[in-house]
Amino acid sequence: MNISIIGTGYVGLTTGVCLADFGHTVACVDIDAEKIALLQSGSSPLFETGLEDLMKKNAAEKRLFFTTDFSEGVCNADVVFFAVPTPQGDYGKANLSILFDAVRTCVQHAKPTAVFVVRSTAPVGTVAKLKEMITDLRNDATLTVASNPEFLSEGNAIENFFHPDRVVIGADDEHAKNILSEVYRPIVNGEHPLVITTCASAEVIKYTANAFLALKISFINEIADFCELIGADVKEVARGIGYDKRIGSQFLEAGIGYGGSCFGKDTKALVARGEEQGYEFKIIKALSTVNDSRYALVLKKLKKYYPNFSGLRIAVLGLAFKPMTNDVRDTPAERIIFELLESGARVSVFDPVAMPGFKKQFKRSEELLFGSSLYDALTDADACIIITKWNEFKNCDLAKARVRMKGDVLIDGRNMFERKDAEQAGFRYEGVGR
Ligand code: UGA
Repeated sequence: MNISIIGTGYVGLTTGVCLADFGHTVACVDIDAEKIALLQSGSSPLFETGLEDLMKKNAAEKRLFFTTDFSEGVCNADVVFFAVPTPQGDYGKANLSILFDAVRTCVQHAKPTAVFVVRSTAPVGTVAKLKEMITDLRNDATLTVASNPEFLSEGNAIENFFHPDRVVIGADDEHAKNILSEVYRPIVNGEHPLVITTCASAEVIKYTANAFLALKISFINEIADFCELIGADVKEVARGIGYDKRIGSQFLEAGIGYGGSCFGKDTKALVARGEEQGYEFKIIKALSTVNDSRYALVLKKLKKYYPNFSGLRIAVLGLAFKPMTNDVRDTPAERIIFELLESGARVSVFDPVAMPGFKKQFKRSEELLFGSSLYDALTDADACIIITKWNEFKNCDLAKARVRMKGDVLIDGRNMFERKDAEQAGFRYEGVGR
């Protein structure tokens, strides 16, 4: 099958590369000429396990192409996937202008029988609006629009694509249902079920899945704060409830909260979409309130040891919003570092892969000291704050880390270490909820 992917971000690039690996011929289209040139040269702009190798393999086998030319990229496609950003707009609403512009451009180049598929996270009703727009633009066309939400977790996206818990296809007509079922035929089986729904249901499934995962995190974070007050250990509590199959053990890691480009934006967009319908999501609204205040927890813990941060040197380990990615969008590191700088602290940082991206994104980067290693960032620090759960940090030599530092305070925002190990190495240790 001939497939076009519009947008080569995390979702688009992973989808394109994996679909090419199924044997489809895939053209990935993007307006960013620099990115396309990089992809054509065989390099991936993303730090994503296995992506670059798979990309090179499929490009060499002439199934995967990259272009900035929409006409060339779209004219032969049986299916066009839209994986462009849907950033947060005014009042928490998703801003769909990039998606609508991309569809408008592609309509003029597409075959009359092409299926347009919304892969970007877009609010309920988007597919319906696109259908109207396409009818206005091209009344000769039998183009249809469907929804195929992604559930790819950064750092694990290739594995998630080939071994999905499910594939969701939202389609209101037989042509779209059949063609999308054919696209995914190589992976759909008893273990990886295909869920075919209406377009509206598929759109709701995507937001509901992200809101539910965010709910688990905020829920365990509330329990963590309570555990801390009464002397229980949230890790033990999470383990104790996680074996209950109705609850499940994943996404019960307490800490400084969720970051990234999805949970915060999508939960807010769902609340905003509810409001448009005159509906109030009480629980989902509360998630943002709980999560948005998590950064303050770290600073409160540090205040226990140093009431005034002015003149202190604080080492911050981890800038990516989670491990195994160089993505720094909506990372808790940004807010925490900003507050430390505002309070007069000097901040040294280290992340195995996310430093270049953070340097670009953070407005006060020139005030930071970027370490060449985690030990380098720790040198002469009064305290260390762990933000991202990188294995490299987990495997560090705590005694060596302690010796490098001037002070002895370790704020472990991800509960990576056990108190006894940290104390044995000479630290005063603060975890979360324990
Ligand atoms: C999330 C979903 O997991 C994917 O299914 C979805 O497709 C994707 O959003 C999206 O909508 O595009 P992702 O943002 O890559 O994927 O990352 P997650 O692994 O879900 O982690 C999100 C945040 O929650 C991270 O900051 C992580 O550190 C935090 N987290 C995760 C916790 O604080 N505790 C946990 O137990 C799990």
